[in-house]
Amino acid sequence: MFIKTVSSNPFQDQRPGTSGLRKRVKVFQEKNYLENYIQAIFDSLSGVTGKTLVLGGDGRYFNEIAIQKIIKMALANGFGRIMVAKDGILSTPAASCVIRKYKAFGGIILSASHNPGGEEGDFGIKYNISNGGPAPESLTEAIYLRSKTISSYKIADIPDIDLSVLGEIRFGDLVVEVFDGINDYVDLMKTLFNFSDLRKLFASDFKMRYDAMNAVTGPYAHRIFEEELGAKEGTVINWKPLPDFGGKHPDPNLTYAKDLVDYMFSEGAADFGAASDGDGDRNMILGNHFYVNPSDSLAVICANYKAVKGYSSGILGIARSMPTSQAANKVADFLGIDCYETPTGWKFFGNLMDGNKVTICGEESFGTGSNHVREKDGLWAILFWLNIIANTKKSVSEIVKDHWIKFGRNYYSRHDYENIDTDVANALMDHIREQFSSLGGKEFGEYMVSTADDFNYIDSIDGSETSKQGIRIIFTNGSRIIYRLSGTGTKGSTLRIYIEKYESEISKQSQDTQVALSDLIKIADDIGEIIKRTGMKQPTVIT
Ligand code: G1P
Ligand code: ZN
Repeated sequence: MFIKTVSSNPFQDQRPGTSGLRKRVKVFQEKNYLENYIQAIFDSLSGVTGKTLVLGGDGRYFNEIAIQKIIKMALANGFGRIMVAKDGILSTPAASCVIRKYKAFGGIILSASHNPGGEEGDFGIKYNISNGGPAPESLTEAIYLRSKTISSYKIADIPDIDLSVLGEIRFGDLVVEVFDGINDYVDLMKTLFNFSDLRKLFASDFKMRYDAMNAVTGPYAHRIFEEELGAKEGTVINWKPLPDFGGKHPDPNLTYAKDLVDYMFSEGAADFGAASDGDGDRNMILGNHFYVNPSDSLAVICANYKAVKGYSSGILGIARSMPTSQAANKVADFLGIDCYETPTGWKFFGNLMDGNKVTICGEESFGTGSNHVREKDGLWAILFWLNIIANTKKSVSEIVKDHWIKFGRNYYSRHDYENIDTDVANALMDHIREQFSSLGGKEFGEYMVSTADDFNYIDSIDGSETSKQGIRIIFTNGSRIIYRLSGTGTKGSTLRIYIEKYESEISKQSQDTQVALSDLIKIADDIGEIIKRTGMKQPTVIT
């Protein structure tokens, strides 16, 4: 095998964000842009010789072009076996599962998650380590530093691999294996969930609709729900992955999964509705005329762990990202286990799971998962909910309302202001920081501020520190307003405001969320001057 060394000039903008490096497809198409970043990853790893690399992506535009280049570069950089998913289709949780199962050195997942796809859309690259989880910050920073000085990359001179044919292709001692990206994941789900109970559920008059949003989970969901569990044909819609996701924005929330939401709130809707994002790690849960807030979903899953075979012996602890509502804390208190609070991004859960501190983790951004892999897992959450339904024989809304009666309700909403000028966004955050010293004890109607600070995190396992992970305004009654700038966008800046209010009184638990939070929404604007500074009268997305 002939290995070429190609000289190249470094780029200065290859810093990974909350979840890998995300840029416009056009940027990745620039000469050597992809190659430089991949070489920077490989240069930042040590001991890869002869080891296995897992490779696949969410099927978006540029997936296959990138895969062919990465196979050749991985072989040139010393990997001994490249496990590439058939047709390049591998969801993020399935990649995590495969890395762990085959004890791979690591994996590269090609995805920009829920960002739009297609030639005019986004592309992304994530590197996952041997535990199956996202690279920790120490590694992503090392990759970034390397990318700024790189002067060449290595690539093997071999033909493209036919990704449609399962099997092994050998180049001397080196192997490229095209494997089925669905099987291992489905097998893992079978060890966790009571498939026989679910078959009975689907054999009854229970009706479900799953919207794969033309993204990666389609083949997984079709296989699990329709082929394995006997759900009616047509239960899984939009299930063929498309390079541009059919022009849709594959983000399972009230705005971008509107078709599913409209259907679930219509006459004759199904009992259960669900959707996942571009790379399959997110989920949205809906009941008949009912939306489950992701923070509540985490709490409900934790409270009902006994319903699921893989967890029935107990859960070690819970972790939630800081902006996620405190509903999970109530469950942890009840169960007598710890609830950890981490910065936004799944990578912060890895150490806690590896250290056996937590079993179930979640983020308000439609992410839930457990230590079965080291990524959030959309289909896992959906199967968990289905098991709870099968076990309790209650509807989605009954499950959630009963949960509120027992634990209280954490009214919760996130308001996103997308594509604002980066200088304006930074100035807005600094303006809030300038008020830190004067906010303590300040009253806003019935709310009094107890703490105003930047969330800084020290990892309890390895002691690593991460600072400025969101501004917290915490009130004496436990209500919170959090301000954060997104780390995944590719256009301008996105300001996220997270608003939370706890309600223990049952008679006050059935208000509209935005109405219940209206005082706090107003306070968020008073403190942040959002309308004045951004010129935007309302958020772009409300979840
Ligand atoms: C967003 C979510 C975060 C999630 C990440 C990757 O990041 O808020 O919870 O882990 O996407 O899916 P953000 O854009 O807020 O940095
Ligand atoms: Zn995702």
